[in-house]
Amino acid sequence: MTAILRGNILHTPAFGALEAIPRGYLVLEDGVIQGVYPSLPETFARCPAEDYGDALILRSFADLHLHAPQYPMLGMGMDLPLLAWLETYTFPVEARFQDPDFARVVYRALAEDLISSGTTRVAMFSSRHTDATLILMEELERAGVTGLVGKVNMDRNGGAVQEGTEESLSETLRWLEHCRFEHVKPILTPRFTPSCTDGLMEALGRLAAERDLPVQSHLSENVSEGAWVRELHPDCAQYWETYDKYGLWKKGALMAHCVHSDPREQEAMARSGVWAVHCPASNVNLCSGTALVREMLERGVPVALGSDIAGGDQLAMNRVITAAIRASKVKAMEAGGAFLTVPEAYYLGTAAGHRYFGGGAGFRAGDKLHAVVVDDSTMPPPVRELTLPERLERALYLMDKRHIRAVYSEGRRVLVRGGGDQE
Ligand code: GUN
Ligand code: FE
Repeated sequence: MTAILRGNILHTPAFGALEAIPRGYLVLEDGVIQGVYPSLPETFARCPAEDYGDALILRSFADLHLHAPQYPMLGMGMDLPLLAWLETYTFPVEARFQDPDFARVVYRALAEDLISSGTTRVAMFSSRHTDATLILMEELERAGVTGLVGKVNMDRNGGAVQEGTEESLSETLRWLEHCRFEHVKPILTPRFTPSCTDGLMEALGRLAAERDLPVQSHLSENVSEGAWVRELHPDCAQYWETYDKYGLWKKGALMAHCVHSDPREQEAMARSGVWAVHCPASNVNLCSGTALVREMLERGVPVALGSDIAGGDQLAMNRVITAAIRASKVKAMEAGGAFLTVPEAYYLGTAAGHRYFGGGAGFRAGDKLHAVVVDDSTMPPPVRELTLPERLERALYLMDKRHIRAVYSEGRRVLVRGGGDQE
């Protein structure tokens, strides 16, 4: 079936390049983009069109690092640095996901919150609990969120939420057996090196190779964490080597943070096609620092953005995009260099994530549509008519759920609202 969307289309065909198509057309065939047009080709003249008027049609957001079981502690426990924060707040909260009923309530709310914030693609950590992880995947699928979810593996230093090594492996296999979701797929998730014994890392590396599974974890987030990793693996010169040693450093692996990755570690990422997921809000909240995003990009490291809730305090990715710009300005003031521009940060929070999943940088023919329609008419009245790039900037800084009129995920419209002023 042919469907046509009309509105002010703003996308990034390449990093840093913004294309604006005023009152343009997105033509879809069964949810798959056929083309983006400034005026409607004659062949489609008789097809029904969804006219969003003066609203903005943007790429939907992609959150490539967040912790679902930390949703109940969002906006709390921000008085400790990473390692103490994990022990004091995080592990006891994650332990609650032993209870599937509790998981159901939390994960349904999270999935709805994601879609109504315009996030349609994720790479997400669950907790170590198999049943709760399957419930999370089911709720994401139901809401229309697509992407990857990992049952967390953690067989040491995990306090209330630790599992045994054998249990960790057998539960991972049980989880994989039950992962039968159309749009939500499994990703192996050793929590981070201090959480996993060598035996577990080795077994997970083997599993990743045998079943060709993707991997996600944390890397070089925090100074104390780095010191701990060096103590645990004195044979490894750098943090990344602790993953590489066990076959977990592979193309497409997602490594959150990379705040303290030096040029050698960055080169290892670029060489292996390992992604850095930049989580600017979390990195400030947990006193970790700020990643050198432009330096990584210049070295050829693929970079995307993550909310890292609840280390990060905002689930909405437009807030993460502006946090990335702000963090890059602090870095630029301290160390020189250029901060991230609005089109660059918009790319990182949308296009980069879509590219991770095989999509194009801009709205591209052949891709299933992932888009968010933003009605900015209720934002502060401007003193003159704004250009479309100006409206994109303002939307990224100011938008919240009230401004989202529609969300498209994997070619389906998964949310629609009557007008810009409705809840
Ligand atoms: N490192 C290991 N676990 C975590 C976590 O839950 N959050 C963050 N930010 N870093 C981690
Ligand atoms: Fe994290």
